[in-house]
Amino acid sequence: MSSHPQLRPELALRPGYHSPQVDVAVRLNTNESPFPPPARYLERLAAAIGGTELHRYPDRAATELRQKIGALHGVSADEVLVANGSNEVLQAVLLAFGGPGRTVLVAEPTYAMHSHIAQNLGSRVVDVARRADFSLDVDRVIDVARSEEAAVLFCCSPNNPTGTIESPHTIGRLLAETSAMVVVDEAYGQFAPSSALELDASWRDRLVVVRTFSKTWALAGVRLGYAVSSPLVIAGASEALLPYHLSSLTQLAGSLALDDLELMHQRVEAIVAGRNHLAQAMADLDVEVTPSSANFILFRPRHRAASVVWSAMVAAGVLVRDCSSWPGLENCLRVTIGTEAENAQFLIALKEALA
Ligand SMILES: Cc1ncc(COP(=O)(O)O)c(C=O)c1O
Repeated sequence: MSSHPQLRPELALRPGYHSPQVDVAVRLNTNESPFPPPARYLERLAAAIGGTELHRYPDRAATELRQKIGALHGVSADEVLVANGSNEVLQAVLLAFGGPGRTVLVAEPTYAMHSHIAQNLGSRVVDVARRADFSLDVDRVIDVARSEEAAVLFCCSPNNPTGTIESPHTIGRLLAETSAMVVVDEAYGQFAPSSALELDASWRDRLVVVRTFSKTWALAGVRLGYAVSSPLVIAGASEALLPYHLSSLTQLAGSLALDDLELMHQRVEAIVAGRNHLAQAMADLDVEVTPSSANFILFRPRHRAASVVWSAMVAAGVLVRDCSSWPGLENCLRVTIGTEAENAQFLIALKEALA
């Protein structure tokens, strides 16, 4: 009897989510921080690891870390969920509140993992396409969320890969005019002028704001993300996490990072200044630039194929993300803001590739 294991159909037919890694000098394709963690942070972390009881299981509730994140946002620890990267946070929320038989609404083009995770879990995914300028068609999102009885509605702000944001007013409308749980993915929230966390706390019965240590905190390798919501939602999503899911080392790394808020603010300012400088310089080139509130910029060559520009830039030692095959992103490329030197190299390579 032949008995090949059968992959679930939800997983079998879908392209994977990954960015090709090419070994070049300037890698501006995955929206990471261009700066490594500060030296003084690494020294403190190394010293603290020595005192960690690695033969013991970690604090299952990650109490200290959740208290410190709570203090950052003026909420209590029971309003904070922590997990291995914001991807695991999103998965826990969907495990608890999405799942088979429930509908999840996304607005493409957006972060692919929202629909991927929802599909993995057997949810029905409904897409409400963004407008040509990538803004959310709010009235239509509300109509569809109501008619399809969406259990969960994703709003990525700033949106990856477009960099566009939704105001707290818009998020407020989504909450007031639908009955869905509204998950605002703010992985790039620190680079934006507003946040859904500004909304009245009474909305948190259905509002979940998700953030990560992977970008601003320069800790993508640590894998730490979190959500802020009501104690009931957090308790519900926690049910979906495995016991002792967050290692002692991850808890320690996150907790110590929160002692260096000033450095984090300086870094955000440097990246925002770099983004504004790049956007201005790119406005003079033969590309359409989407205004960004994140640490990346989406752009579209006007008279060249994006794939040709991408290859020419790789040959010049600069890697950006080729988004041109993604639905709704015809001929688009995305560049992550780098260091001053990397941004300068990117501009030179782009000018040459367009010439
Ligand atoms: C919008 C968005 N959300 C979540 C993530 C996942 O981040 P992490 O799992 O590293 O916290 C990313 C990563 O690029 C992202 O772009």
